[in-house]
Amino acid sequence: MILVTGGAGYVGSHLVMALLERGKDVIVFDSLELGHIEIIERLKKYGNLKFVQGNLMNLDDIRGVFLVNKNIEAVVHFAAYSQVAESVKNPQKYYYNNVYGTLNLLNAMMEFGVNKIVFSSTAATYGEPEYTPIDENHPQKPINPYGNSKLMVEKIMDDYDKAYGLKSVRLRYFNVAGADSEARIGEWHNPETHLIPNVLKATADKKFKMFGTDYNTKDGTCVRDYINVEDLAKAHILALDYLNNGGDTNYINLGTNDGNTVKEVFTACEEIKGVEIPLEVCPRRGGDPASLVADNKKAREVLGWIPQHDLDDCIKSAYEWEKVLGQIMH
Ligand code: UFG
Repeated sequence: MILVTGGAGYVGSHLVMALLERGKDVIVFDSLELGHIEIIERLKKYGNLKFVQGNLMNLDDIRGVFLVNKNIEAVVHFAAYSQVAESVKNPQKYYYNNVYGTLNLLNAMMEFGVNKIVFSSTAATYGEPEYTPIDENHPQKPINPYGNSKLMVEKIMDDYDKAYGLKSVRLRYFNVAGADSEARIGEWHNPETHLIPNVLKATADKKFKMFGTDYNTKDGTCVRDYINVEDLAKAHILALDYLNNGGDTNYINLGTNDGNTVKEVFTACEEIKGVEIPLEVCPRRGGDPASLVADNKKAREVLGWIPQHDLDDCIKSAYEWEKVLGQIMH
């Protein structure tokens, strides 16, 4: 049985779907502060899924999960806050939840003898790129509390390995995009800050805001490496296999080796929707690096992971999910 914290959220729910489709038993632990019970109900149709509502800030909540379920083999840990701008305004929230909450999880794991974890880390741990594509040897110098909180957890996991034998794989995501290819689940944030859903949601009254057209890139807008959420889920399955096969603690980028500009994404969205999307060009958004692209050689070598979906697939699946989400909201 696999324990997935934050399994009612965007990336976590896609991993849960992938695990259930492979016949794995899953327990989701989620506070539902940002995750959605509707997503859990949808997932339950596809396999043996237990849901526990709880908060990692309460040690007893997470201890209770291990106390009742003696057959947890490994943990995949998504539960965290992940908005960069919010983390700058309210660092306490990020350090307390993302770091202290993880400590409670790790301590419960150690108490109950579970020593394998796949952790949702981020390209934000690298900070301002010194070169691109970014490989795993790039210095980790986060420039915001969100990135700091994830890097702290990475370091804690190393120390727990040395002292207690915790085996972790830290997956450093670049820009996660898209939805389940059958539109059963998808991205559901409120407020939404990410590029693709914001382009797709734009209306005449609420135009899409393009932040910054004066970057030193091929068309002046920021370059990002958009990695499909189903491909990302697959990488977590491979990381679990790696740990089950005796793999040592490791840290791996998840991206495509390729980047797209904001303008390219915008144009691709217009083509897929088949309409002109209302656009407002705005000043730069604070803290956005010009270009973030992953070197994904290590993921290919260590996990045998090869992304299958391109940017158009991400936009198409996100668009189909937007329609479903529109129905859920009404
Ligand atoms: N953008 C817009 N308009 C929008 C939303 C985004 O122009 O409405 C632009 C941004 O300025 C940026 C690009 O689209 O240039 C991508 O922005 P996202 O907000 O979709 O993603 P980020 O690259 O800012 O953030 C992602 C993850 C974070 C992670 C970060 C690492 O969502 O969790 O990468 O730097 F921390």
